[in-house]
Amino acid sequence: MKNLKTIHAAVDPSNPDDAVIGQAAEIIRRGGLVAFPTETVYGLGADAQNPEAVSRVYQVKGRPSDNPLIWHGNSLTDFECIADFSTDRTCEPLSDAWATSGIASNVQKLAKAFWPGPLTMVLPLLSEAGLIPCQKTIAIRVPSHPIIRALIAASGCVIAAPSANLSGRPSPTTAKHVIEDLNGAIEMIIDGGPAQNGLESTVIDLSNGKVPQLLRPGAITLEMLQDVIGEVAFSEFKVSEDAAPLSPGMKYRHYAPKAPLILVIGSPEAVSAKAKAFTTEGKAVGLLTTSNDTLETVAQSLFGRLRQFDEMGVDVIVAEGVKEEGIGLAIMNRLKKAAAEVIYL
Ligand code: TXA
Ligand code: MG
Repeated sequence: MKNLKTIHAAVDPSNPDDAVIGQAAEIIRRGGLVAFPTETVYGLGADAQNPEAVSRVYQVKGRPSDNPLIWHGNSLTDFECIADFSTDRTCEPLSDAWATSGIASNVQKLAKAFWPGPLTMVLPLLSEAGLIPCQKTIAIRVPSHPIIRALIAASGCVIAAPSANLSGRPSPTTAKHVIEDLNGAIEMIIDGGPAQNGLESTVIDLSNGKVPQLLRPGAITLEMLQDVIGEVAFSEFKVSEDAAPLSPGMKYRHYAPKAPLILVIGSPEAVSAKAKAFTTEGKAVGLLTTSNDTLETVAQSLFGRLRQFDEMGVDVIVAEGVKEEGIGLAIMNRLKKAAAEVIYL
């Protein structure tokens, strides 16, 4: 179904062109799909309150229908009619825990500390919202990138947006990546240069009145969250095979490069020895090392490099593990999801 004439427009992120943003906003208002940069990765946006537009997002990505989308607005109040974060609520609480746990105050604290920015909060869905069948919670984010902020303002819509890649491909960090996956399937792609963070937003679940749960690590680190609201739990994997995933996204394998990725946890020497061994076997090796870069640079370039290895047709990818603290936790989370094998040397 890639038979649309996708509009391509370059926009200066420091001074978004009103005419281009206006054109994109009109497409969103009419139920079309627009891809745009955010501070994390490129997103594929639709009017969140238009069920047909939202269902097309699933269609063009090939995304399983039980994996919900993040709603993007320009302030917490944009979500008043969908998410429950009020301290003086007028409707029935989802649970007693919600009423007494102080989640609402955690929402306020996190919003104050990290919004606009790369943090997504999962909150109880307002029961009276009635918009999203089969869902009890809603993920919301206030991004900081000027282009998506301008688009939200100009369209007057809250924008539902997953990452703008085909399901199972690495998230796109440039407009070129979006073109590879979605050209001809959506109405417009806005090129605003490379996404700054390169990894998707941090997702924290505050919905159940228990200890807040980190579902997806990102540039807002576990340590930063703990500094603001105290205890935050994180467990990367399901406790048992039968247990329901904490987040629908957790049960799908992401970012799978074409060649098997071997994640090596050990010294830089151990990593290069492993790569050499594959070369000796006559294999073309894609090497992902981190030695001379800052972790921020590693995060920013990770998905792009995985896509490059696909293009080059390497036989195997050898990736060097990093310390699981700060942004390193998010990098390792993505590497583990992409890995066919993890080796400790
Ligand atoms: O940085 C980002 O978050 C980017 C940009 C475009 O904002 N968006 C993004 O969306 O990464 P997506 O759909 O690729 O990832 C959203 C993640 C998925 O793992 C999904 O399962 C989880 O958030 N999620 C969404 N709604 C949820 C909910 N109600 N409860 C638990 N997890 C949820
Ligand atoms: Mg995604």
